[in-house]
Amino acid sequence: MWRSLRLVSALGLCASAFAQSSTVDSYTSTESPIAKAGVLANIGPSGVKSSGAYPGVVIASPSTTDPDYLYTWVRDSSLVFKMLIDQYTSGQDTTLRAHIDNFIAAEANLQQVTNPSGTVSTGGLGEPKFNINETAFTGAWGRPQRDGPALRSISMITYANWLIANNNESYVTDSLWPIIKLDLDYVMNNWNETTFDLWEEVDSSSFFTSAVQHRALRQGSALAAEIGQSSVVSGYSTQADNILCFLQSYWNPSPGFMTANTGGGRSGRDANTVLTSIHVFDVEAGCDGVTFQPCSDIALSNLKVYVDSFREIYSINGGIRADQAVATGRYPEDVYQGGNPWYLASFAVAEQLYDALIVWSNEGSLTVTDVSFPFFQQFDTNITPGTYSSSTPIYSSLTTAIRNFADGFVAMAAKYTPSGGGLAEQYTRSDGTPTSAVDLTWSYASALTAFNARAGKTSASWGASCLSVSPTCSTSMAPTVPVVFNVNATTVVGQNIYLTGSVGALTDWSTTGAILMSSADYPIWSTAVTLPANTQIQYKYIIVDNGEVTWESDPNNEFTTSMSGITTINDVWR
Ligand SMILES: *[C@@H]1O[C@H](CO)[C@@H](O)[C@H](O)[C@H]1NC(C)=O
Ligand SMILES: *[C@@H]1O[C@H](CO)[C@@H](O)[C@H](O)[C@H]1NC(C)=O
Ligand SMILES: *[C@@H]1O[C@H](CO)[C@@H](O)[C@H](O)[C@H]1NC(C)=O
Ligand SMILES: *[C@@H]1O[C@H](CO)[C@@H](O)[C@H](O)[C@H]1NC(C)=O
Repeated sequence: MWRSLRLVSALGLCASAFAQSSTVDSYTSTESPIAKAGVLANIGPSGVKSSGAYPGVVIASPSTTDPDYLYTWVRDSSLVFKMLIDQYTSGQDTTLRAHIDNFIAAEANLQQVTNPSGTVSTGGLGEPKFNINETAFTGAWGRPQRDGPALRSISMITYANWLIANNNESYVTDSLWPIIKLDLDYVMNNWNETTFDLWEEVDSSSFFTSAVQHRALRQGSALAAEIGQSSVVSGYSTQADNILCFLQSYWNPSPGFMTANTGGGRSGRDANTVLTSIHVFDVEAGCDGVTFQPCSDIALSNLKVYVDSFREIYSINGGIRADQAVATGRYPEDVYQGGNPWYLASFAVAEQLYDALIVWSNEGSLTVTDVSFPFFQQFDTNITPGTYSSSTPIYSSLTTAIRNFADGFVAMAAKYTPSGGGLAEQYTRSDGTPTSAVDLTWSYASALTAFNARAGKTSASWGASCLSVSPTCSTSMAPTVPVVFNVNATTVVGQNIYLTGSVGALTDWSTTGAILMSSADYPIWSTAVTLPANTQIQYKYIIVDNGEVTWESDPNNEFTTSMSGITTINDVWR
């Protein structure tokens, strides 16, 4: 009887996951062309909803009242064109070249427009928004916003790298580089000044801004080296190292999330951080935590803390199980336009998870550490830290559950997308009705990048692999790295293998508090622990049988942890 009941409930779960996945399949195929048309409608000079916008100018939304978004923001435009440039350079859409060249010309003009933040050489590059005829917006605003120049240079460098690979280096050197260099010099010289955050509200340091500044200088220094602009290479890379160090200081170890802003007096849980992980994603960087890759343990822990902060506060999330997708917004304390869920925030959660699935699949395994444990425990209450190869049932069931979870966020956006497919900025917390600005360009772009990630498509690598925090970096938090311990040990029933060692994270040689290892891949016992980076560690495995402890024979095992990345140690019981 018990068996057949279990079977029925298992079938029920599979059926609903299957139904959701086909709903999401059909939503992505109908919404994709609508979202693409929605983006192009908002780009001058010929966009059908952006009359008056100069060539290459992206309007934020055609909405002119409550809110009036008929302006062009450097951040939104650059994110939108990053998506279009990725589509063009990957061959997904070969019709976009004229739009891209218009964008470059428009942004080059805007760089030179004197505005309330200054002139091109006195801080004007930090100006967040302009009129759509490329004149300055002179009203009061949260300025400067220093993510704009970083994002703009990231888009243009992506295009430049493609042009170089396609025999057009002279155009890069003569025309693109001078534009890119203005933005990179601005980032190099001003990254350590306060900024308004991407939501234009908090004036402090902001994780998203710092992270994209890091990426811009890292890519900029590589491009400069490639095209022989050697005088700027070391300046850019030195400041990139400094930002990478500073980025680590946003981490809040308990309960494991990146604090979005150093000011603002809020909880710090914010879509800012999820957007960071998708916009610094580099498919060649594995699950590196130093650069906050989507599958890193800290980014997964952060994702859970962020998502959970919306479970109780929106009525439309009522009755949804704690392991299922919910509507998410910018940050839980938000009151702007009613403080509702945002489409781009829901798509960003899905995209981070799809990106993670791509990397696990490439690597043929996934690792659960003590930091990412609460995230994975949502999908398997019995999970223990360790590495699970793609041949194991645990890997299959976890990745299936995580893909369903990711699809749930797309399904949430789909449920509250009106029949014509238009994507506003927000959908209400009370009943999901679209609200605030209509046809938000960034909403459409966020749908398209999430759909691409779901289909396994990735952007060009930007050089995030093998980066590490310099030994002279000192922030309030010492850098840590995940280490996977595997030991081949034959045991008998009743015996378990534990790990203990010389640092706090290894319980300081405790036998009673030692770390229980997983025998999912028996005779390999496995666990993963976050240890201080670049530190000499001693450890041993112990067998515990009914409280009786058997130590491995001497000497202690010993190694020095790396500066970054995941280390795997394979031992045989002595
Ligand atoms: C540009 O647009 C602004 C805002 O709509 C308007 O006030 C200004 O007159 C326009 N300037 C030009 C040169 O068209
Ligand atoms: C290089 O790219 C620019 C910008 O699209 C274009 O105008 C130019 O014709 C290209 N040159 C070559 C040789 O392809
Ligand atoms: C500037 O950098 C220092 C050192 O990393 C950091 O402590 C400080 O908070 C930074 N300030 C801003 C505004 O970024
Ligand atoms: C574990 O060790 C035993 C004995 O040395 C060896 O025969 C076996 O191949 C090892 N298993 C794995 C999975 O490495």
